[in-house]
Amino acid sequence: MPEQMPAVRLTSITKRFPGVVANHDVDLTIERGEVHALCGENGAGKSTLMKILYGMQRPDEGTIEIDGAKAVLRTPADAIARGIGMVHQHFKLADNLTVLENVILGAEPRRGFRIDFAAARARIREMSEAYGLRVDPDVLVETLGVGDRQRVEILKVLFRGARVLILDEPTAVLVPQEVDELFGNLRELRAEGLTVLFISHKLDEVLSVADTISVIRRGTTVATRLDPGQITSGRLAELMVGSELPKPELRESTVTDDVQLDIGGLSVLTAEGRPVVDGVSLRIRRGEIVGLAGVEGNGQSELIEAIMGIRGADAGTITYGEHDITGWTTRRRREAGIAYIPEDRHRHGLVLEGSLWENRMLGHQTQRPNVRGPWVDRRGARRDTTRIVRDYDVRTPGIEVPAAALSGGNQQKLIVGREMSGDPRLLIAAHPTRGIDVGAQAAIWEYLRLARASGLAVLLISADLEELIGMSDTLHVILRGRLVAEVDPGTVTPEQLGSAMTGAGDTP
Ligand SMILES: Nc1ncnc2c1ncn2[C@@H]1O[C@H](COP(=O)(O)OP(=O)(O)O)[C@@H](O)[C@H]1O
Ligand SMILES: [Mg+2]
Repeated sequence: MPEQMPAVRLTSITKRFPGVVANHDVDLTIERGEVHALCGENGAGKSTLMKILYGMQRPDEGTIEIDGAKAVLRTPADAIARGIGMVHQHFKLADNLTVLENVILGAEPRRGFRIDFAAARARIREMSEAYGLRVDPDVLVETLGVGDRQRVEILKVLFRGARVLILDEPTAVLVPQEVDELFGNLRELRAEGLTVLFISHKLDEVLSVADTISVIRRGTTVATRLDPGQITSGRLAELMVGSELPKPELRESTVTDDVQLDIGGLSVLTAEGRPVVDGVSLRIRRGEIVGLAGVEGNGQSELIEAIMGIRGADAGTITYGEHDITGWTTRRRREAGIAYIPEDRHRHGLVLEGSLWENRMLGHQTQRPNVRGPWVDRRGARRDTTRIVRDYDVRTPGIEVPAAALSGGNQQKLIVGREMSGDPRLLIAAHPTRGIDVGAQAAIWEYLRLARASGLAVLLISADLEELIGMSDTLHVILRGRLVAEVDPGTVTPEQLGSAMTGAGDTP
């Protein structure tokens, strides 16, 4: 028996667009009957490659073989004729038609001159059953949710005889439960001998559903046919971004003897008189990062708000340098050099519809360079925003765009840049890297290290335990409003820290 031919073989595919090489010398082999995941960062060239395989784009160089035979695909119709089907990121269904009408549209089975609806309905039923793609052929598409619509798209492709199914980021539009359902469908398709090409940039998905994984980076495949049982998500992430992932870590100590913040017996009560911060005493020295670990909702937000003066203290004192600031307003604290990276950058850190330079002024409206004498200095604010954009590597088309136009990582860099201007002495950083990409995360860690090295006292609150352990000189655990343990960040493991946070650990 001759060796089985791969379902698809792409060789030396190159595709250029004006100013960008979207695919460069790509080699990729897809075997029959496998779920093959293609992963890569946004812009890596995944969709372009799939469009080439689906006849929507012509490659500038390279060859496509399908079942061992060379194929020239000028249009999607050519690809469909060769058994290649694609489900797009954005669905292309007609809302006012039924599932059945959508599925057969353009490929209607005929009996004489008439559309043979009975035959179509029977085939759709048969396919739905064979592949576990449950959907009623007679309902209007407009009544369907996203998961069902996706199943209709898949049926549509199968109806045209596809044996290789391309799904471009199919999970982007789904909720977790629908993702599970889709993965179930993909496994059924595979069981029926179909081949699935699954595109994603989500590592956990790729690892859970794929039989084999290929990684594309900057237009080229950097690894192909990886075994998901043999590769870790960390290694996969490294392949995607192209370097060793930066780690949160501090090198030599910069901790001094000067106490910058000294909190004594601080308590904050709820309206009902229940303590949410309960007798907290904490010191942060210049050049020191003090980490605070805790399950969310154990008083860390209220503690920060008390330090910032957003909330009053019901007992205890807050001393900042020489000053007892317990009764000070937030504005006065900020003017005295307390910088704050808030926990929810969308609600408290930024005005999303405001321009970058307007956001530069936020919380600093009374400070230079945003004011000159009694007047707002827009030019000063703009000039300083340009400086922040440059110094903090904020990727933006300009300083007039709204903050909403920036990615989360770039928004956060803007906030850090703003908070670090004006010579602060204390930085409160609440979840500074939450929800941002690895590049921006590494940049924020570097800014924290620089702040520490320049003598700032830093209070770091985070749910990322590796970040806390790596970036803290001193690490406290907060539970039900009390500091219940101090652990050694040099030796503690995330597991030990996790149990201390729930009160389960036997830490003193
Ligand atoms: N039709 C096009 N015209 C010009 N540039 C394009 C076009 N399609 C994609 N690109 C560019 O090619 C690169 C790869 O894009 P794409 O294949 O969509 O990546 P991915 O799907 O991995 O996010 C990007 O830089 C993108 O801007
Ligand atoms: Mg894409």
